[in-house]
Amino acid sequence: MEREKILALHGLTMKYKSVVAVDNLSFAIDKGSITGLIGTNGAGKSTVVNLISGSGKPTSGEILFKGTHLEKLPADRIARLGVARTFQNLRIFGKLSVLDNVRIAAQARHPYNFVQMSLGTRHYREQECAVTETARDVLRRLKIDQYAEAQAGSLSYGHQRRLEIARCLALNPELLLLDEPAAGMNPNESAELARDIRQIRKETGTTILLVEHDMSVVMSLCEYIYVMDFGILLGEGEPDTIRSNPEVIRAYLGAERKYA
Ligand SMILES: Nc1ncnc2c1ncn2[C@@H]1O[C@H](COP(=O)(O)OP(=O)(O)O)[C@@H](O)[C@H]1O
Ligand SMILES: [Mg+2]
Repeated sequence: MEREKILALHGLTMKYKSVVAVDNLSFAIDKGSITGLIGTNGAGKSTVVNLISGSGKPTSGEILFKGTHLEKLPADRIARLGVARTFQNLRIFGKLSVLDNVRIAAQARHPYNFVQMSLGTRHYREQECAVTETARDVLRRLKIDQYAEAQAGSLSYGHQRRLEIARCLALNPELLLLDEPAAGMNPNESAELARDIRQIRKETGTTILLVEHDMSVVMSLCEYIYVMDFGILLGEGEPDTIRSNPEVIRAYLGAERKYA
């Protein structure tokens, strides 16, 4: 039986002045899956993530999330619909504590207004507790709860990457877009992160689109993989199909060896 598609791109195109970053791209993602998006540097992967999450507007084409058109919506509306994303270049608040970094995200889920806050109403106090509980829960899932009180900027790079994911999870997203979550990690850290991402999907049921160039992470996590090259779709399939696709090997896996 066909699985339900949570996200579908139709003819998505993004042109910058002289570059077509995404060129008439169409693909769909199964609800509940971990789907990979791979390709060499500059293939257009981050642009796709930007377009889905609303931090850029496509030149043309459609993005459907559970049947709702996202291509004209502002980023905050898209986030409230249940789409969260991490950034390839981390966007954490270095001077704040690890816990506060996640609390800021969690507050979006447990809103209170300024009057309630000023008066210290029961609603405000309850929401504050819920925010802290949510924040601690996601820090535990990402195994960085022991650093809750530390300054975020003092964490190791790998832990900062985990914090970035924790902030997304605090929004309780239905679709999580991870842009190179294992970048800069050593093989042990990447393998550990892959295990934790698998566990998160199992426990939360969140659908994940994983942009990653660490092939061991991609191959071990993804049920289905799309390969981009120069803005277009070069290939797609299950990990075994991708591994043995000659075009993919030439364009991507060959290049990977060169970079290694
Ligand atoms: N804001 C921008 N302005 C102009 N060109 C851009 C911009 N963002 C990305 N590009 C170009 O679009 C192409 C795709 O970039 P990107 O989506 O970052 O690729 P990837 O994430 O696969 O490495 C590249 O050629 C890049 O230089
Ligand atoms: Mg990128």
